[in-house]
Amino acid sequence: MRIESGSCVLRPYHAADRERLAILANDMLISRNMTAMFPYPYTDDDADQWIRRCIKASRPWENLAVEVDGEYSGGIGLHRGSGEKHRVAQMGYWIEPSLWGRGIMTDAARAFTSYAFDTFPVDRLQATVFGWNAASARVLVKCGFVEEGRLRAAIARFGETTDELIFGLLRSDHEAAD
Ligand SMILES: CC(C)(COP(=O)(O)OP(=O)(O)OC[C@H]1O[C@@H](n2cnc3c(N)ncnc32)[C@H](O)[C@@H]1OP(=O)(O)O)[C@@H](O)C(=O)NCCC(=O)NCCS
Repeated sequence: MRIESGSCVLRPYHAADRERLAILANDMLISRNMTAMFPYPYTDDDADQWIRRCIKASRPWENLAVEVDGEYSGGIGLHRGSGEKHRVAQMGYWIEPSLWGRGIMTDAARAFTSYAFDTFPVDRLQATVFGWNAASARVLVKCGFVEEGRLRAAIARFGETTDELIFGLLRSDHEAAD
């Protein structure tokens, strides 16, 4: 499985991604914008566990590697809700800082939202963004997400507090835009 998306390719994780993941992900610029599931420091063990989990995961793939110029450079994925949230999936992503500002994550997220609605029985994709993360908010807006709410002072990460912004994209909006 391989999704070409302009500046990048989305594909399943390989064992060979472990080494670059351990180097690229160990970066405060990334961790401070991600949930605590993405630690700092990001150790070799963290990389190992993530790669094993992705490779073992049941299909269809919920997490994909982002490859730029043939190199593993980041990740994008979703987590499906359960119970009354079973028609909702939470989306997350990151890319190495040396590639920021080139439109790569916008390409990746556009391709991934289409993949997600084509592949999973969900009606809503959701993303939560820390208040200081204007770049991520902009990526979502460019992909058709709507800013739906702001939870004030809901995030405390590495000693700093900020708001949590909720973005949503409905299947119906996505289909209407196609
Ligand atoms: C957020 C992130 C994925 C963006 O990736 P990217 O490939 O640089 O994104 P793009 O280049 O596609 O788009 C970024 C947009 O944000 C804009 N932007 C960047 N910094 C900005 C800022 N400080 N204020 C306002 N807009 C900003 C860019 O100008 C661009 O918009 P434009 O195309 O309208 O000019 C990347 O910065 C990252 O991995 N950050 C760390 C992890 C993270 O934040 N993950 C998301 C968690 S919700």
